[in-house]
Amino acid sequence: MEKKITVICGDGIGPEVTKQSIKVLNAVAEQFNHKFNYDQQIMGACAIDKTGDPLPQATIDSCKNSDAVLFGAIGHPKYDNDPHAKVRPEQGLLRIRKELQLYANIRPISTYPTLQHLSPLKPDRLQDVDLVIYRELTGGIYFGEKTLSDDKNTASDLCLYTKAEIERVAHLAFNHAMNRKKKITLVDKANVLETSRLWRKVVQEIAQQYPEVAVDYMFVDNASMQLIIKPKQFDVILTENMFGDIISDEASVLSGSIGLLPSSSIGSGTALFEPIHGSYPQGAGKDIANPVGSVLSAAMMLDYFEMYEEAALVRRAVSWALEHGFVSQDIDSVNYYSTSVIGDLMKDFIEQKAPSEIN
Ligand code: IPM
Ligand code: MN
Repeated sequence: MEKKITVICGDGIGPEVTKQSIKVLNAVAEQFNHKFNYDQQIMGACAIDKTGDPLPQATIDSCKNSDAVLFGAIGHPKYDNDPHAKVRPEQGLLRIRKELQLYANIRPISTYPTLQHLSPLKPDRLQDVDLVIYRELTGGIYFGEKTLSDDKNTASDLCLYTKAEIERVAHLAFNHAMNRKKKITLVDKANVLETSRLWRKVVQEIAQQYPEVAVDYMFVDNASMQLIIKPKQFDVILTENMFGDIISDEASVLSGSIGLLPSSSIGSGTALFEPIHGSYPQGAGKDIANPVGSVLSAAMMLDYFEMYEEAALVRRAVSWALEHGFVSQDIDSVNYYSTSVIGDLMKDFIEQKAPSEIN
């Protein structure tokens, strides 16, 4: 098969981790006789530096004409503490999500037996943890009207949801639950927020179409606690944009490192695949970042292309590297490998090179 992939490395460690995914994808293409054509584009702080715009039109056009987008990371510290910055790198990511109508962000959280010691949680709490977060991605407080009064002393962010916005992401989550343990937890704040009450009402209606799926409703404050004290109770978590952003970073501590976690963003336009970690500016250019989040995002992309065997092979390469201690600094601060060496080792694994060739 031939696929066109827009590659947006972005900022910070984005280029380094994305490079490893490309190595892995090229090895997959070679093994399975596919052709992946990459189109490199810019977005984020690097795009502001070059063009003044965090999301140049050429990037949007390329994404719209591709089969998928592989994205690295976004953000630069020089914007974080400047409340007056008019243009911010993150605007690029938010706009591309809107442009491509990527209304569902899917974040699977898995645990690895050999990495359990990295989590601050007791090992017995991590046993059998396997959950996936469906985060609504193009609505809510992220995209509602923003105001700042003339005297700059009053600000607001509107949180708005329509029934249709809730329905489309909910159907995706219910369908996924049907192929898993058939359990959905809607995370909201329905005791306080009108939008959350709408979410509950709409999800209750949709639930009737999926009688086999057990539906649970949980307030976000309680869910934050339950994720830590009893994470195995969750199968599919469905939630709105900002709650999903927050609880997915929290859930990453179950895996041991945020550097391990991938995501896919899907909707009505070209799907986008990105690790959930940020741009980690302190680590940029040092070849120390964990490439696994990006490589597993590439595996999610292969699944999306219905290249299931290929995706499974990439996941085996990742598990093999993690089990054999071919890990980055965030996983083992004493015996660690560089980002690029880990990428090479995973590539070799996919190419079925003999272990002797792997140093
Ligand atoms: C994420 C990130 C983004 C978000 C930022 C960079 C805008 O934290 O993808 O989780 O908040 O959605
Ligand atoms: Mn986030």
